Amino acid sequence: MDELKQRILKDGHALNQQVLRVDSFLNHQVDPQLMHAIGEAFGKYFRKHHFDKVITVEASGIAPAQMTALALGLPLLIMKKQTSKILKGDMYKTPVHSFTKENDYHLCVSKKYLKAGEKYLLIDDFLAYGQVVMGVKSICEEAGASLGGVGIVIEKSFQPGRALVEEQGLDILSLARIKSLAEGYVEFLEA
Ligand code: G4P
Repeated sequence: MDELKQRILKDGHALNQQVLRVDSFLNHQVDPQLMHAIGEAFGKYFRKHHFDKVITVEASGIAPAQMTALALGLPLLIMKKQTSKILKGDMYKTPVHSFTKENDYHLCVSKKYLKAGEKYLLIDDFLAYGQVVMGVKSICEEAGASLGGVGIVIEKSFQPGRALVEEQGLDILSLARIKSLAEGYVEFLEA
């Protein structure tokens, strides 16, 4: 997606070979117009499937996922990273390790929002090691539902997430695919 790549070049900042800062438009301050264009791009690509819901994981996935849900006319389900004291009742829960942030947490979602036989689309801001995708997929399957597609705003293609997602047979679209990072430098994979 050209508009996104241009924005990354203009306002993103590669901290080092692993991390791209995009906090001025994606995961701290958010540009709603760009999010709208991102939602339309995912909507256009994933319209060929029949999905029952869009799923994301709090927090930075919410903005692009909401715009995608709007474009597809679907509800948005936000998986939580901790069990909320307010969310009562039965929850599905699975452990996830973040290699980027070097932390562990549980993905949690109320059982009442996942239904056997349904098919879901996951939208997230970054794909690095693929652990969120695997966690969401495992929760969907525990519910007797399935994960059918994955939409990623920024894929760090030099990390192992993409291969892991493809191994699962999931239809994946990444709007910006980054071949390499170095301090102050971003290189994209050719389309
Ligand atoms: P994985 O699911 O692909 O295994 O990813 P991993 O845990 O390694 O990293 C995901 C978390 O780290 C996400 O944040 C994501 O936004 C953030 N992240 C990964 N790579 C980058 C990067 O290059 N730049 C920035 N800015 N963030 C990155 P999170 O834990 O879900 O937190 P939140 O921001 O959504 O609350």
